[in-house]
Amino acid sequence: MRTQVGIVGAGPAGLLLSHLLHLEGIDSVVIESRSRQEIEATIRAGVLEQGTVDLLKQSGLGERMQREGAVHKGIYLRFAGRSHRIDFPSLTGGRAITVYAQHEVIRDLVAARVAAQGKLLFEVKDAAVYALDTREPKVRFHHGGQLVELECDFIAGCDGFHGITRPSIPSRMRHEFTRVYPFGWLGLLVEAPPFTDELIYTHHERGFSLISTRSPQIQRLYLQCNPDDAAADWPDSRIWEELHARLGRIENVNLTEGRIFNKAVIAMRSFVVEPMRCGRLFLAGDSAHIVPPTGGKGLNLAAADVRVLSQALVAFYKGGSEALLEAYSATALRRVWRAEHFSWWMTSLLHRFHDESPFHHRLQLSELDYLVSSRAKAQTLAENYVGLALE
Ligand code: DHB
Repeated sequence: MRTQVGIVGAGPAGLLLSHLLHLEGIDSVVIESRSRQEIEATIRAGVLEQGTVDLLKQSGLGERMQREGAVHKGIYLRFAGRSHRIDFPSLTGGRAITVYAQHEVIRDLVAARVAAQGKLLFEVKDAAVYALDTREPKVRFHHGGQLVELECDFIAGCDGFHGITRPSIPSRMRHEFTRVYPFGWLGLLVEAPPFTDELIYTHHERGFSLISTRSPQIQRLYLQCNPDDAAADWPDSRIWEELHARLGRIENVNLTEGRIFNKAVIAMRSFVVEPMRCGRLFLAGDSAHIVPPTGGKGLNLAAADVRVLSQALVAFYKGGSEALLEAYSATALRRVWRAEHFSWWMTSLLHRFHDESPFHHRLQLSELDYLVSSRAKAQTLAENYVGLALE
């Protein structure tokens, strides 16, 4: 089998890359170890930056997102028993975010690839990449009981943090940066009408909480928990008790205790590999970097990576120039490190650290107070939250 770009992984990065390349007449094959049902049902975050929304719209993927997603023009920061709103448009020249779940983006992408008869192979086994430092890199895998060798011009490693592409780069050529946080998030889906009009990020002595939304019938909640907690450690009664305690007495919030139908513990980690390239293998999305979820940057970074990578591949195929491919890693890493810093900062600002001293707690409260009283500081949050234009 032969293609121009072999794409390992059908998450947001791999599927969007394949779609963007298709629009430019560039052929790709996407391979994925999971089934279509599994990738379409995996619950992740739901914040789309303005630039991600624009990219999805421009590439013909915006129809359902515009119908079912919700545009949010601000967030609430809640601490010391009071809520404060950060208004995005007035701080960012009119920008906002859209709340639309990642698995809905995945469903739209898969539908678009299937409609265009794109080559999308699910449930492949034993994938491996070879000959990365040649002009004919290869992906080998088993599919439907057959051993397949896929010859490519380029390979995109879009197979996530636990994927096979990053470890295929010799360790002497990889520089990795890691931080693991001493807490996790319990992520919940609840059958209930919206609790709030905009997301509420709460700093509290008992730990962070986040009230988000999904649809008129389904709401998304997160609670800071211990990193090694299991979902079973959180019976519904404990969840509601914690939420009420962390939110405190709050106006304009209607915390209907609906049926909780999804509970999962999310690990919190920061990670970057440099460079995001080895020969003709290019990494994009979680295979190259992880952010803690606070601020919802993961999917947006994946989209930004593949926008840069697709433009570089188009320049190669249409103009014969490798300059943008040479620049890919440095270009992508500039945005990656900005989002790494922002996600680390939001996480550090809002969570309870168990080894934290009262001094540290007071510093958090002072920074939050500064954030909601200084336009300059609020603007820093807002422009990072809606997403900076960095290319
Ligand atoms: C959501 C997730 C986040 O990490 C965040 O900061 C805001 C919202 C969400 O899933 O809705």
